[in-house]
Amino acid sequence: MRTLVDTPCHAHLLAGAALVLAIALTATACGGGDGGGGANQAAATAAAASTASAAASAAATARAELATTAVATPAGTATAAADTPCDGVPTASQAEGPFYSAGSPETRDLIANAASFQRLTVTGSTTLEVRGRVLTTDCEPVAAAWLDFWQTDVAGNYDNSGYELRGHQFANASGEYLLRTVMPAEYPGRSPHIHVKVRAPDGPVLTTQIYFAGEAGNARDGLFDASLLMEVTTAPDGGLVGTFDFVLPAR
Ligand SMILES: [Fe+2]
Repeated sequence: MRTLVDTPCHAHLLAGAALVLAIALTATACGGGDGGGGANQAAATAAAASTASAAASAAATARAELATTAVATPAGTATAAADTPCDGVPTASQAEGPFYSAGSPETRDLIANAASFQRLTVTGSTTLEVRGRVLTTDCEPVAAAWLDFWQTDVAGNYDNSGYELRGHQFANASGEYLLRTVMPAEYPGRSPHIHVKVRAPDGPVLTTQIYFAGEAGNARDGLFDASLLMEVTTAPDGGLVGTFDFVLPAR
């Protein structure tokens, strides 16, 4: 089932030569999309219809489970998001890249969603839990901020015909979010990263990426920005946990 071929657009691969860490780049080389992704997506939508009900059920279950734990700090794991200092510096924007798909499902649990479709490899992956806050430059929480995540599976593949390892969510009243996913993998030219779009209600969209501290590929990734690093630690259950806050630019 995992037949996707990761074919980053030219800009994505040749980051070291031509790319800058600016959101403006999203309107350049990758502007046309993901090389047929639109058609693929339409086909996938039809193909997925037969499993949509089961997927929706699984996603609903995941949402229900996470709804009560979204802002709690698991025992023995990462520091609570609220303990992370805020310096008020807007989070750097990054290129969207060629693999964004609008219309992702609302879910905090990308593992449950991927397991429902099984186009990507998540079984056996290292689980990853990312939590944090969406803040203003005054370090005030942005309630109900929209966050849309997308990433590769353990083999470095994106689901370009569906929504595996893609999902959006809304921060709670304290600006907190929680993402349950798997550790992404590197692919040609790119160190492991998670793409994300973040938007305050009625605000502009911040498009950026989260990188992982300690990855050797960071030094070879032309898009890498040290300000977007996330430290991860291993939880008692063997999964990785990390905290990352987003600071939205002042309007
Ligand atoms: Fe990427």
